[in-house]
Amino acid sequence: MIALLMAVTGQYSWMTMLPSSAKKQQLPTITPVRGFNVVDDIKSKVEKACPGVVSCADILAIAARDSTVFLGGPSWTVRLGRRDSPTASRSAANTSIPPPTSNLSALVSSFSAQGLSLKDMVALSGSHTIGLARCTSFRGRIYNDSNIDATFAKSLQSRCPTSGNNDKLARLDAATPTHFDNCYYRNLLSGKGLLHSDQELFNGSSSDFLVKRYTSNPSTFFKDFAMAMVKMGNITPLTGSKGEIRVNCRKVN
Ligand code: HEM
Ligand SMILES: *[C@@H]1O[C@H](CO)[C@@H](O)[C@H](O)[C@H]1NC(C)=O
Ligand SMILES: *[C@@H]1O[C@H](CO)[C@@H](O)[C@H](O)[C@H]1NC(C)=O
Ligand SMILES: *[C@@H]1O[C@H](CO)[C@@H](O)[C@H](O)[C@H]1NC(C)=O
Ligand SMILES: *[C@@H]1O[C@H](CO)[C@@H](O)[C@H](O)[C@H]1NC(C)=O
Repeated sequence: MIALLMAVTGQYSWMTMLPSSAKKQQLPTITPVRGFNVVDDIKSKVEKACPGVVSCADILAIAARDSTVFLGGPSWTVRLGRRDSPTASRSAANTSIPPPTSNLSALVSSFSAQGLSLKDMVALSGSHTIGLARCTSFRGRIYNDSNIDATFAKSLQSRCPTSGNNDKLARLDAATPTHFDNCYYRNLLSGKGLLHSDQELFNGSSSDFLVKRYTSNPSTFFKDFAMAMVKMGNITPLTGSKGEIRVNCRKVN
């Protein structure tokens, strides 16, 4: 159940996008994100059983994997032993995450700065097969983009006005929001990507073939997604005597 909540609220995902050393730095920034209390619950149980040993970074990495499996997605091996960052930097967190207004080349360079390829980026974005986004994240898309399904745009406009209602939520994958499947890519083929950055992956350019591949071949998507999650989880982790084991996942010790 915890895993389901985690995946549906998706609060782990922002962190799994970041190098492990930056993960904890981002926590203060994302605490308002829906569902972070689930992480607090897991952490307090783990601390009771075995104090000061398991990092928040490892908890998040495991939760990301288990939630994916629980919702019908692929599994992978999570290497453990990450430690948490002893600092918190909102600007470091900000620059690690591309905004949803990004074009394809900005997405590619942001992932490539972390050692992740175009294929990794397209596969990882498939995680938008679950979860929600706020009106502020897709307003530009539903009012200003031309490559959007008209009916889809209309129905979103009725929930997300040109101003106000910034926190109103919509499903990233309207078709099957609680299943980890390849519907995210199917949506893109019909102009139903919710974020501008989503639709950029299928908009007449270098990543189109990957979207088509994952649409027609779900097992290839699962395989590439799992591989990319392992790769992302291994980006410059803090280990040994570096960093700390946080007592409270929301703040540095
Ligand atoms: C390609 C670059 C990416 C961009 C631009 C991006 C952008 C976003 C945005 C804007 C939201 C909605 C946040 C909100 O409005 O509150 C979101 C949600 C989400 N993202 Fe991403 N994302 C990207 C990659 C990823 C990756 C790599 C993962 C995980 C592997 C991921 C997993 C999720 C999940 C699960 C949610 C739902 C969160 C929720 O329901 O609370 N995203 N993303
Ligand atoms: C980081 O992003 C948040 C939210 O978009 C913004 O309010 C804040 O000013 C940014 N901080 C820095 C240091 O870039
Ligand atoms: C993509 O976005 C970046 C950053 O906003 C911008 O500098 C660049 O000109 C854009 N590229 C294209 C091809 O539109
Ligand atoms: C749409 O584009 C226009 C012109 O660039 C801009 O003034 C407006 O703020 C944009 N609307 C949204 C909702 O992003
Ligand atoms: C991508 O989509 C936008 C509309 O959001 C459009 O203006 C642009 O020409 C499209 N094509 C490419 C190759 O970027």
